[in-house]
Amino acid sequence: MAHRVAALGGDGIGPEVVREGLKVLAAVGETAGFTCEVTDLPYGTDHYLETGVIFPDGMMDTFRRDFDAILLGAIGDPRVEVGLIERGIIGAIRWDLDLFVNLRPIKLYNERLCPLKDKTPKDVDMIFVRENTEDAYAGMHGFVHKGSPLEVSTQTMVYTRAGVERVVRYAFELAMGRERKQVTLVDKANAVRAQDLWTRTFAEVGEEYPDIRQDHAYIDAACMWMVKNPEWFDVAVTTNLFGDIITDLGAMVQGGMGIAASGNIHPGQVSMFESIHGSAPKYKDQNKANPIATIAAVQMMLAHLGEEDGARILDNALSNLLSGDDIKSMNAGVYGTDELGDMVVTEVHKLGG
Ligand code: IPM
Ligand code: MN
Repeated sequence: MAHRVAALGGDGIGPEVVREGLKVLAAVGETAGFTCEVTDLPYGTDHYLETGVIFPDGMMDTFRRDFDAILLGAIGDPRVEVGLIERGIIGAIRWDLDLFVNLRPIKLYNERLCPLKDKTPKDVDMIFVRENTEDAYAGMHGFVHKGSPLEVSTQTMVYTRAGVERVVRYAFELAMGRERKQVTLVDKANAVRAQDLWTRTFAEVGEEYPDIRQDHAYIDAACMWMVKNPEWFDVAVTTNLFGDIITDLGAMVQGGMGIAASGNIHPGQVSMFESIHGSAPKYKDQNKANPIATIAAVQMMLAHLGEEDGARILDNALSNLLSGDDIKSMNAGVYGTDELGDMVVTEVHKLGG
């Protein structure tokens, strides 16, 4: 049966990178023998400005009922209030579909793409498990005396035992399937005492996984080590906000925002896959945006859909392309958006024989 994929290009460069992602998806499908039924969805800032609607009523039920996966381009547009469409689309999808894992691989394919001196692909191969539904992102905030000198604003970091436990367990399970079998908890429990819940939950869940080595780093130190000793990381699990921040740092270490992908996952349920970069409005419609991150998100989507052959083929295609001696840079504008898509398709066809 065909996989039902919702393609949500969104704002800025989103639609053009999604176009390349779908082109590659079709090529992998031909090679690996599966089909996808793709439905284009028009939501994003333009749609909101034209209609006043971010998502129609019942959209989350539609996702649950009619789709197996969502491929998202990018959201963000300076014409509207900060965060409005991000919360209304990315936030709504993450929270309302309960996509509690934000999986962000940080893998260097080519020494030339790494800004760190003397670091090679064997030094940068980690995967961050970012909690995706709680923390400062839970939406509990408020203002009093707004606009006056007495103004008070608060935003609460929310952690639930169930929410922490399920994401920590996901990280340990993930580590079981990896060679190094290590999980690092990244937190700031020395200052944010509420994160003691993470410390205790990590230790308790970890007891069920005697084969996995447990490690710990405070977020500030983790940022330092990510630059100094990225080889120390294998699987890392962290809170929503820290995960947001450190994975941008990770993206740079692996070659830039043009390359870093993520999966917003609830195992066994409709899940959403996206690049971690933004909508980059200045590059819109110029054929300069790098679609590799979105193509790598397609790779993660195939793994989620159970298309193991397809996921492996696309992983190898990306690895062959990016590790090649000819690849210059992953920065915007070095290659055409469609050119990079075509280059991946060529690699997929080579692997298909
Ligand atoms: C990300 C983004 C989002 C986040 C924004 C767009 C709300 O930065 O996916 O990393 O903070 O989670
Ligand atoms: Mn981010």
